[in-house]
Amino acid sequence: MPKLIVVTREGEEREIEGESGLSVMEVIRDAGIDELLALCGGCCSCATCHVHVDPAFIGQLPPMGEDENDLLDSSDDRNEYSRLSCQLPFDASLDGLKVKIAAED
Ligand code: FES
Repeated sequence: MPKLIVVTREGEEREIEGESGLSVMEVIRDAGIDELLALCGGCCSCATCHVHVDPAFIGQLPPMGEDENDLLDSSDDRNEYSRLSCQLPFDASLDGLKVKIAAED
């Protein structure tokens, strides 16, 4: 299974495996990393699944939707690598993807 590297807010790096077809948020949640709250369960309405994506991968991700963009605007920790992880389908093409969990708003 493709690997996902998650950096927690404390800077701890964890390598986990994710099933293709899940979202990056679901892969992180299923690995038991509970600081990614993902309160709305992936329907793009809470922004608690905010991550910063490794710049090397940002070009491989699907374009950001308007809802995602609006929600990220409400975060003080937004930067050019910000995405909502529930909006990122995970698959083998993203093997080795690294994301850092953004600060809590
Ligand atoms: S889980 Fe709520 S926006 Fe992603």
